[in-house]
Amino acid sequence: NGKINIAIDGPAGAGKSTVARMVAKALSYVYVDTGAMYRAVTWYMIKQGIKPEQVDLVLEKAKELNIELVPEETGQRVFLNGQDVTHEIRSIEVNGLVSRYAKIEGLRKMLVQMQRQMALRKGVVMDGRDIGTTVLPQAEVKIFMTATVKERALRRFKEMKDAEGITLEQLEHDIAERDRQDEQREISPLRRADDAIVLDTTRLTIDEVVDRIVSYCTIHM
Ligand code: C5P
Repeated sequence: NGKINIAIDGPAGAGKSTVARMVAKALSYVYVDTGAMYRAVTWYMIKQGIKPEQVDLVLEKAKELNIELVPEETGQRVFLNGQDVTHEIRSIEVNGLVSRYAKIEGLRKMLVQMQRQMALRKGVVMDGRDIGTTVLPQAEVKIFMTATVKERALRRFKEMKDAEGITLEQLEHDIAERDRQDEQREISPLRRADDAIVLDTTRLTIDEVVDRIVSYCTIHM
């Protein structure tokens, strides 16, 4: 059907989800936010009082979970066993713990399998950490989006209108810590695929980034 798959990876706060959503819209493709899946599991485990160290329990409970990503105009809604958790999964608590659950091999296997299923028919823009390396190594287009930690923290800071009492320094620290955990884990760490294009967005606007990716994709269609 002439459709391709597009993998967008990179560290926290590089603007992947905003950009991936806009690229999907421009191409009439489906946007899949894989971070939302790790976040949904994390939110559930916190609620159940299950710690990331309790690996067997995490895996047992994760089997009971039905995660749905439902596209909508402004992005996607996330449902967990029928409950809308779109906003809940963005909490500071989930931010702080998600990378610890995301290290669990069995959990990654489960979610990766679901993600591959979603991309079978192509026409998918998927963002995450391991899409180009592990989930969709055959993706026709792979982008690795980066920006300095300072810039990423600043973007997050501006995004958080109510700021929730958090300082820019705290955000910088949190982002750097999540990067460190994602880069240093054993199972599919955050890493640029050999055939991915690096896009440093520090000095680019969102529209500039989207334009570059869309024109690059058009060449590969
Ligand atoms: O993309 P987002 O920041 O929402 O992802 C939250 C966390 O989920 C990441 O920091 C990472 O620990 C985990 N994640 C992952 N693999 C992916 C997507 C997200 O390990 N493909």
